[in-house]
Amino acid sequence: MYFLAIETSCDETAAAVFTEEPAVLANVIASQTDLHARFGGVVPEVAARAHLQRLLPVIDEALKQAGIELNQIGCVAVHNTPGLVGALLVGVSAAKMLAVALEVPLIAVNHIEAHIYACRLAAGRDIFPCVGLVVSGGHTCLFHCRSALDFQLLGATLDDAAGEAFDKVASILGLGFPGGPSVEREAAGGNPGAFQFPRSLLSDERLDFSFSGVKTAVLYTVHGQDLARGSSPPSGQRRADLAASFQQAVIDVLVEKTRRALHCTGLKRLAVGGGVAANRALRAALEKMAADEQAELFIPPMKLCTDNAAMAALAVEKWRQQRFAPLDLDAIPAYRARG
Ligand code: KG4
Ligand code: ZN
Repeated sequence: MYFLAIETSCDETAAAVFTEEPAVLANVIASQTDLHARFGGVVPEVAARAHLQRLLPVIDEALKQAGIELNQIGCVAVHNTPGLVGALLVGVSAAKMLAVALEVPLIAVNHIEAHIYACRLAAGRDIFPCVGLVVSGGHTCLFHCRSALDFQLLGATLDDAAGEAFDKVASILGLGFPGGPSVEREAAGGNPGAFQFPRSLLSDERLDFSFSGVKTAVLYTVHGQDLARGSSPPSGQRRADLAASFQQAVIDVLVEKTRRALHCTGLKRLAVGGGVAANRALRAALEKMAADEQAELFIPPMKLCTDNAAMAALAVEKWRQQRFAPLDLDAIPAYRARG
């Protein structure tokens, strides 16, 4: 049984082929970074048009790498929520068209839940129940994951997502797009203790996050509270220290809240996904915390942390329960979680 999965929620056009095991046979990702870099962020209309141009070649490439023909596909899966609505619509429309043409079932996959499923894929064995931490460009969520398909939201960001803060701070520091990797590179040469940026909501019992304060603190440190016109971004050691101190502030909050989620659920397994989980300093800090808590940590390799279609192998779990999507399936931009 072969599944074809499609991801077009943001700025990666991706297709994957996997079996019901699930075993991934192909995981093709066409990044649009070059298209958005000159705007300093993802432009939704540009993203949607690029998905239109690239999706069919990406699907062809995935089939080729998997060594199968289109007519061998037995099920089509697609991330239909959350994301940029125009971008999602391209993938959802293509998936419906393929399901109709091939006369196979269609399965809708939640992109956020799929980020956690990437841990299951990489582990090659069951990881549930676990605490799930999703740290991406648009979301920062802690879950009690009872099973692959039963997530309870424990906490989420009240304002900026962790990845969004990385992207905005990269822009403040005059670093390139996408911000996460460029801040990480800059931070490698800096002192994480040089600036004391706020660790928001750490004294708050809730498992919610807030990252807009730390971003604003970096902005004021760089340009002053009156945001002096024309002041140029920092350079040299000061810039590296700012990047390292910002990164440390974000990591401290993510790690501490996740530790509390382990405590309050009593779980000893932690699964982490989303683009920010590609950050080496965060990975190291989570490894240390998990070891302290005697918890098992699952973080996928980098390629499965950032957006991809292989993680839509969550569809296999729905397929086992015959949870197919109707052909009037919608693209839903906002994430709806159960609290
Ligand atoms: O999961 P993802 O690829 O897309 C969304 O679903 O949003 O996450 C993208 C986010 C971006 O904000 C990007 O800057 C961030 O992940 N990111 C990183 C790193 N690599 C990607 N943040 C920190 N360090 C990294 N190495
Ligand atoms: Zn994502």
